[in-house]
Amino acid sequence: MSYKIETLISKEELRAGIQRVADEINRDYEGKSIHLICIIKGGVFFMTELSKYLKMDVTMDFMAVSSYGSDTVSSGIVKIIKDLDEPIEGRDVLIVEDIIDTGNTMEYLMELLRDRKPASLKLCAMLDKPSRRLKDIKADYLAFPIEDKFVVGFGLDYDQKYRNLDYIGAIVFDE
Ligand code: IMP
Ligand code: MG
Repeated sequence: MSYKIETLISKEELRAGIQRVADEINRDYEGKSIHLICIIKGGVFFMTELSKYLKMDVTMDFMAVSSYGSDTVSSGIVKIIKDLDEPIEGRDVLIVEDIIDTGNTMEYLMELLRDRKPASLKLCAMLDKPSRRLKDIKADYLAFPIEDKFVVGFGLDYDQKYRNLDYIGAIVFDE
C-alpha cells in the first residue's frame, strides 16, 4: 500500500512545545534533582531535546519495553527488553515517553516502577492520542495532544523507519 507523510507538527512548533514542557518541569522541580527514564527507542529524541532546557541536576537511564500482540492492537501485556541500570528508590523519577496511545504500556510500567519505591514518579509524553485510551493514564506533562492518526518522526517509527525526521508527520495512505 502506498502512502505519503504529511506534516502534523513542524520542527519549530515541536521545539516550542518541548520548551514549554521543560519550563513547567523547571518550575515544579525547582531545588530538586530529577532522574529521567527514557523509554527507548521512541523516547530518545524527545528526551535529548527536553533535557537540554532543564535547569536542575539531571540523571538519565533507559528502559526498553515491547507490548505483546499484533502491531496495531496493543495487548496490555508488556515485556521488558532492557531494564534500568540503576535503582530508583528514593529518587524523583520522570518517565519520558514518545506517545501515549491505549495507555496499556504506561499503566503496566508505572505500576512496576512504583513498586521500586521512587520518592516520586511522574509521566512526561511528547504526544497523546486521548481518543484511543483504554486505561486511566494521564501524562503529568504533555507537549501535544493529537487526533487518532498514525504518526512518525522525532523518534516515532513506521516499520522502524522515519525516526530521524525532525518533525512529526502523519502517515496518509492512498485511496
Ligand atoms: P500504548 O500501550 O497503546 O499506549 O502504546 C504506546 C506505544 O505504541 C508508544 O510508545 C509507541 O511505541 C507506539 N505507538 C502508538 N501510536 C503510535 C503512532 O502513531 N506512531 C508510532 N508509534 C505509535
Ligand atoms: Mg514507545
